[in-house]
Amino acid sequence: MILAICGSLQRTSSNLALLRAAGTAAPPGTVYQIFEGLAALPAFNPDDEPGPASVLAWREALRAAQGVLISTPEYAHGMPGALKNALDWVVGSGELVGKPTVLVSASPGATGGVRAQVQLVQVLSAMDVPVIETFTVPLVRGKLGPDGEVRDAATLKRLADALSALARAAD
Ligand SMILES: Cc1cc2nc3c(=O)[nH]c(=O)nc-3n(C[C@H](O)[C@H](O)[C@H](O)COP(=O)(O)O)c2cc1C
Repeated sequence: MILAICGSLQRTSSNLALLRAAGTAAPPGTVYQIFEGLAALPAFNPDDEPGPASVLAWREALRAAQGVLISTPEYAHGMPGALKNALDWVVGSGELVGKPTVLVSASPGATGGVRAQVQLVQVLSAMDVPVIETFTVPLVRGKLGPDGEVRDAATLKRLADALSALARAAD
């Protein structure tokens, strides 16, 4: 199973649109699931270990994954707090350790959120998570159709290639 994680909690998230498009491009036989519980995670506090049901569900979803796809926006030149918080919950428990991971960042700006990605690479390296590919989607709004679906052929191809790489690495 490939688990997709969106760094944005926004309903109309462009990063979520990318993850939905990636799901339609998953190679045959690949189970693909978008994790929907990020917003339910409380602020990480080691005193609260092992954490409430939302944390257990997050850890279980990661445990079941053979590969991970993260798509995130950049907030104030860094990764969103919700995403860092979710990662903090599994630093000690280790469910992400060794899981092949692809990082995508999307932004309406020209830099494509690359600074969030730079941070993520650092954090995932500290967590022993192998990042097998990274790419940015700059000027993302122009790549979406009226219903928020990904329309840009090059972006769709990039997502399909990333899913294939993840499926191969997960084998
Ligand atoms: C508080 C805040 C800070 C932001 N900071 C950045 C930034 O540093 N770099 C950037 O490229 N975009 C920044 N943006 C714009 C986001 O990239 C944009 O809102 C994007 O669409 C969010 O991703 P989403 O569509 O997946 O929700 C910021 C947006 C907000 C609300």
